[in-house]
Amino acid sequence: MAVFWDRREKPYVAFLFLTPLVWMVFSLFLGRYFPDPGKALMNLSGIWASVFVIAVLLLTPIAKFTQFRMISRYRRFVGLGAFLYSILHLIVYLVLFAGLSVSWIISDLVEKPYIYAGVLAVMILSALAITSTKKMMKRMGKNWKVVHRLVYLAAVCIVLHLWLQVKSDITVAMWISVFIVPLLAIRITQLSYYKKTFKKGLR
Ligand code: HEM
Repeated sequence: MAVFWDRREKPYVAFLFLTPLVWMVFSLFLGRYFPDPGKALMNLSGIWASVFVIAVLLLTPIAKFTQFRMISRYRRFVGLGAFLYSILHLIVYLVLFAGLSVSWIISDLVEKPYIYAGVLAVMILSALAITSTKKMMKRMGKNWKVVHRLVYLAAVCIVLHLWLQVKSDITVAMWISVFIVPLLAIRITQLSYYKKTFKKGLR
């Protein structure tokens, strides 16, 4: 087990994380997403970005409450996966969905408020990716943890993004929320528990 969970396996983990991207590119060129590749890729990239955000949120309780503590060393990797797929989602939006048309994007910003929640989530995930290096960790000191808690705000934005755009089919929004909402609830109860014990300790 210890040999398997060594840093040497990181390239394999990276390969695994890139599999959905490679699959999407192949399927696109094989014409599987026609007649509307923009819509198919919007959904797939958004779903994969959400899967990685869920995985990041899951790592903390798994590392805390089970014997798989070593799993937390993959937090940066999984977080970078969330960043990669959300940037892909943004690129697909700009290129295939909006056709790089400024007037299209402006009218979307006026008509579709869920885009703001998505943009905020992407901004947070980008900030977390940029500050995820060991160097930044050292430089930011105690603030690093505080800043990286913004992942929970990103998760809230994602749930908002999904429910504000829902039309007739709620499947994707529901499945993603089924994972994100309990994970947020666990975090909130943990924070209030720590606050209470901290206050008691001060008394
Ligand atoms: C710049 C930020 C973002 C923009 C402009 C954006 C835009 C969009 C648009 C226009 C759609 C609807 C596509 C359609 O009508 O079929 C969509 C769907 C979706 N987005 Fe985003 N999004 C952003 C960020 C995010 C982020 C950060 C996530 C998750 C991590 C996400 C997850 C999803 C998912 C899962 C769907 C599919 C929903 C469904 O099929 O019901 N989006 N996004």
